[in-house]
Order: sequence, then structure tokens, then C-alpha cells
Amino acid sequence: MAARQEDAVTPVQQSDEEWECPERSLDECQGEYIQHVMNRKMERRAFLTGAAVAGAAFTVTPALVEPAHADGSYRYRRRDPGSRLTFKTVPPGNNADIVVPPGYDYNVVIRWGDPLFPGMPEFDVDHQTPEDAARQFGFNNDLVLWYPLPHWVRNTIRRHGRLRPIQEFFLGLFLPGLQQRSSKYALMAINHEYTTGRQMFRDYVGNLPGNSAEQAKQRRIEIENHGLSVIEVKKRRNGKTRFVRNSPFNRRITGTTPIEIRGPLRGHELLRTAADPTGTMVDGMFNNCAGGRTPWGTVLTCEENFDQYFGNNDDNPDAESKALSARVPGRGGASGRRWEETDPRFDLSKNPREYNRFGYIVEIDMYNPDSVPMKRTAMGRFKHEGASVAIAKSGQVAVYSGDDARFEYVYKFVSKGRYHAGSRLANGDLLDEGTLYVAQFNVGDTPEDDRGIGKWLPLDIDDPVSGPLLITAGFNSQAEVLINTRGAADALKATPMDRPEDVEVSPVDGRVIITLTNNSRRTEPNEANPRINNQHGHLVELFEDDDDFAATTFTWDIFVKCGNPALPNNEQDTKYGELSNEEALAAGVSPISDVDNIVWDDDGNLWISTDGQFFSDGVGFGQNDGVFAVPVAGRDRGVLRQFLSGVPGCEICGPEFSGDQRTFFCAPQHPHDPRSGDPGSAFEPKEPDGTPLPRWPVGETQISKPSLIAVRHLRGRKIGR
Ligand code: FEO
Ligand code: CA
Ligand code: CA
Repeated sequence: MAARQEDAVTPVQQSDEEWECPERSLDECQGEYIQHVMNRKMERRAFLTGAAVAGAAFTVTPALVEPAHADGSYRYRRRDPGSRLTFKTVPPGNNADIVVPPGYDYNVVIRWGDPLFPGMPEFDVDHQTPEDAARQFGFNNDLVLWYPLPHWVRNTIRRHGRLRPIQEFFLGLFLPGLQQRSSKYALMAINHEYTTGRQMFRDYVGNLPGNSAEQAKQRRIEIENHGLSVIEVKKRRNGKTRFVRNSPFNRRITGTTPIEIRGPLRGHELLRTAADPTGTMVDGMFNNCAGGRTPWGTVLTCEENFDQYFGNNDDNPDAESKALSARVPGRGGASGRRWEETDPRFDLSKNPREYNRFGYIVEIDMYNPDSVPMKRTAMGRFKHEGASVAIAKSGQVAVYSGDDARFEYVYKFVSKGRYHAGSRLANGDLLDEGTLYVAQFNVGDTPEDDRGIGKWLPLDIDDPVSGPLLITAGFNSQAEVLINTRGAADALKATPMDRPEDVEVSPVDGRVIITLTNNSRRTEPNEANPRINNQHGHLVELFEDDDDFAATTFTWDIFVKCGNPALPNNEQDTKYGELSNEEALAAGVSPISDVDNIVWDDDGNLWISTDGQFFSDGVGFGQNDGVFAVPVAGRDRGVLRQFLSGVPGCEICGPEFSGDQRTFFCAPQHPHDPRSGDPGSAFEPKEPDGTPLPRWPVGETQISKPSLIAVRHLRGRKIGR
């Protein structure tokens, strides 16, 4: 999900120093790396000059793509430039348990309800309380990020509770390097996106009208199950990762945790409420989906579908607030969970401005358990899916974020200030001031060649070009632009996309991949969203001009069009890099649908998790969601293969690697979701034909639980290689 941000500092230079392949000779490594850099440069030159397909000279020549081995492994030749991905492809399926390739296994690290703090009882689904929920691992885990935990940091916090300034300095200085190494102890940030009452309570009544004691209790339990967990983990000698219960780093941010409002909207009149007349502090964060890691040791966690928690917008008395949220309105009547019947802050007829305080990126310091989380309003208010950080040549910080809804946009924030390696404190407020841009994808020289040029349009009312357009559209201030970011992007004529999910920057060559998960409502294709009724989604590749993350222009192409390539006449119009359909099938590519979150490995291969394959039945899918890996450069560019298969009804969240790349983390969310066609529930899972299934994780006796898992190679090799 998150790029390895520390690598993002001038990628080519850093990669020169840091390229490593410990399993082979230095000569092989150097040869491979030089080839790799040449691929990137030639590919880009061919693209920019309009020369043929991105396959000239050193890049993929489709005829050279290897066919798959009969056993499902990919025949990678060591001396060729390529991905080194050699795992045996996992077939699509509907297994009741996680499937990983031969030679790998997985263990559960932490499950919904596991207590994080000393003296707590074990979770019991029939005896939940809001107080316990605020101290347990929350529901529906999404974002997964790994952070190294050096011994001296661990010991200092254990003894003194916080680091001294000189220790903060050294942590900031060494963190980017440590992020790529083995670490016996580590910290992990895991989002808790949303709750589904019928998967949490045997008798769910919270969503029914009324405010009985039981309804109020269930609603408060749900509120506390949102947010984020910080946990400490330990890697055992056998390579398995386990959760360190009672660590002083363990932490819960929930729907009631005090969070500071920062940036341009701090204290603004439209963010003031009766409970907070200063407009500077808000209780909690909601629907935190994906996010990202900064190189200074914080997590950026993103409020996505915050609209679903607020009800009674039809009776909203604040016309100004209502108008500014017209592009992301709360529910007209009752909300789905009816929290507003227990807590009036969710009732827009009573507290209309509370709503203006959600929909932001929140920054949390991983290494200071007492730090106050910050809502960074400079990065706009919309359904933020993720936040991928890259450092521009100037030292400015770029943060990429998609707005996950049909026909919404891709954004980039560029800080005014510069990143200071070695000073965690100096970077503390970097994300409070800068320019927010929205992407416009244009066709370039040739329509319908799956590539083009683009612009980052500044959402800035003082900009000489954007300003008049925004004022004409009715915006009166930059505050209104930031509260109604979607409306401002409409005014600039940004390009509506097919549900932008994750956006991540390659640590190896700086290319930016955008996942577009699907859009069944698209009737008018454009070049960046080329399929009508886009059931399966696609991947767009973006190259910033001059390889500068602060650039305002870029080039792009379509890297993958998802679907099932094995259907007759490639009827779903799939695309895997520049491979022909025949070559893709011969190379053993996997069918894939509903691409969601992504992460890069340290060779620059893209790893993708999916959300919704289960729900795509009838259009060639219906199998469990999974994890897929695909090289983006070299001779096997486009050879996308499945690495992991999830359990029925779950989407796969994360994904993430440990610094040494020898552990892969992901978070199966909502196992046995009844929407999958499962006629049972998390309590009594069944096959669609009614056959009982075991609960998941295996061994659970009460209920299936969203959980974090760790995958390792049995001989400790780098994952996939
Ligand atoms: Fe929460 Fe866009 O996935
Ligand atoms: Ca997602
Ligand atoms: Ca999702």
C-alpha cells in the first residue's frame, strides 16, 4: 500500500547505492541494475518521442517473454534483466483458508478483538463493551505499514516513555536506511476502516430505529472499533512474526480519540461546533482505508467514506455547509448505522458543521506513543483512499491520493517547505502548507493508443489560471476550495476516473502506479478510462516530467487492463503490459479483477491486492480475492501472477513487506461477508450451496475475524524470489 518512501529521494542515485541481491554475485547484480536503469531510460525516451511501443531497444520485446513452466513457476533466467519473481502461481479458487505458493506458509499476527494492553480479558464476542473495544485490535483492518524498531529506541521508550531530542535527531537521520533492513522488533500501523454490525454482534440492533441501552452500547462499540492500531511485533528465529502484547508502543486511535485540526482550516468558522468553539480539536477519525508512510517516521491515514456516518442531511439548517458538501453529502435521512440516534454529533440537523471536520488525511507519529494525531487539512477533503509520499528534487514533499468513487479524481499535494533528513521535528508541520493539485489526463499526439500527457491543475484560488475558474464556479476562499475539494476539481475540468484506489511511487524508478478498481457505470470511455462498463478495473502508469515529483506535467500509459484473458477472443479486452493475449496466456498470467491496494518490493515489482472478485460473479469471476505480483520493467514486464488467495467473502488489505523483504503482510478484511453470496454469516459461514464452512482464522470457535497475517518463505528467502 505504501511506497518505500525512504527510497523516493532521487531514486536513481539512491538505487545505485542500495541495489542489493545477496543471493547472487556482485557482477550479476551490477549487470542487472545497469540494465534496469537503461530499461527505464530507453522506455521513457521511446515514449516521449512517440517511438513505437514502450518496447524499443532494452525493454520488453514480447517475443522474448518466457512461457510458464508446467508446474506453474515462471522461467526466469538469471542473467536476463527481469523481476527475479520465481514463485509458483497460485490458482484462483474459493478455498476456506489462505493459499500461498509451495515453499511458503503464513501465520496470524493479530485478530479483531485481541487485547493490546495489560490486564485485559480475552475477547468474547458475547461480552463486548465500548471501553474494551477502545483497547482491543479494531474491526476490518485495512492499511498495513511496517516500521523498524531499533533496540535503542525500544529500550528508551520502555524506560522513559519518550525519546530525548538528540535521539529524535538520530532516529530521523537513520530511519530511511533502517526501513530497508531486517529488524527483530518492528512497529506496525493498521487501519480499522469500518464496522459491519451483523458480523460483530449475534443480535445486531444498532441499525434499527430507537435508542435502547443495547442499541446505544452497540453503536458505541462500533465507534471504538474504528480508527487505527499501532502494535509492536517481533520476528522469531524461525521467521514467523508475532504480536508483542503489552508493549508501550501499542496504541489505539478510535472514533473518539482527540485529534488536532491543522493546516489552513484550523480554527476556521466552518469547522467550529458547539462542542469545539475553537475549531481546533475533533473527536476521532472514520473510515480510514489506506494511507502511507513518511520518511520521518509518521503514518498518513486516510478518511475515505466518511459520509456514511452522518444522517439527516435533508434537515441540515446550515445552507453554506450543506452546499459545500453537495459533492459528498451525508445521508438525507437516517444513516445506515443510526449513530445519530445515540450521539447527536452525527446528526446533521443538529450539528451540521461537525461534518466539515471529516474527510482528511491524518498524520500520527509512530515513535511517540503520547503524540496527538493531526488532521492535515491542506491536502483537501474528499474520500481519500491512500497517501503515497515522495521527495522531489527540490526536497519538497509530494503526497499522492486517489478519491475512491466512480468518476472521481487523482490528487497530488506538494509541500511549500522542504524535507530535512535527520530532523523529525522540523518535518512535523511540512504537510500544513503547500499546493494541492488534481490530475487531468489528456490524449497526447494519438488518441486511442493507451498513452498520453497530463497536467497537475492547482486547486488554488490565488493561482492566475485556476483562480478565475474557481471564482466563476462560486468559490469565495481557499477554505471553501479545501472543504469542497471535489467541487473545485470539477471547476478545473479534472479527468473523472474509474474509482481511483491506491497511488504508489516506485522506489526503484519513480514511476507512479494508479489503481482504478472498476466502474460499471461508465458509458463514455476516454483514453485513460478506455472501457465502458469497466467491471474489472485497470492500472495507469504515470511518469512525472523530468522525474520530478513536484512537476506540474506528466506522461502516462495504461499498464494493465484487468479481467480474464483466457475467455474466447479475449472478450474482456484485457491487457498485460505490451504482451499480446497469446503471449500473456503462454507466460501464465493470472486473471485479476477489482485491483485495490498496492506495494512495491525492493526490485521494483508491483504487488497488488484485490477487493471484489467475489462480487464479480457472472462476468467471469467469483473467486476469492487475492494478492498478485507483476514486474513493471524488464523482459517479463506485464507477467502478472497470483501469489496468494484469500478466504470467502474477504477483500485483501495491506499489502506490505518487512524491511528485509522476507516477510509479507496483508490483512484479510470482512471474512465471510454475507454480500459474497455466503448464506451464513461470520458466525455460521456456509458455502453458497449451504454447506457449512469453518470460521476464519482456522481454529476460531465463535466467529470469523478480520486479521493481520504474515507470510514467510520456509527457507527465509525474499518473498516471491
Ligand atoms: Fe476502502 Fe477504496 O477502499
Ligand atoms: Ca482500498
Ligand atoms: Ca476496498
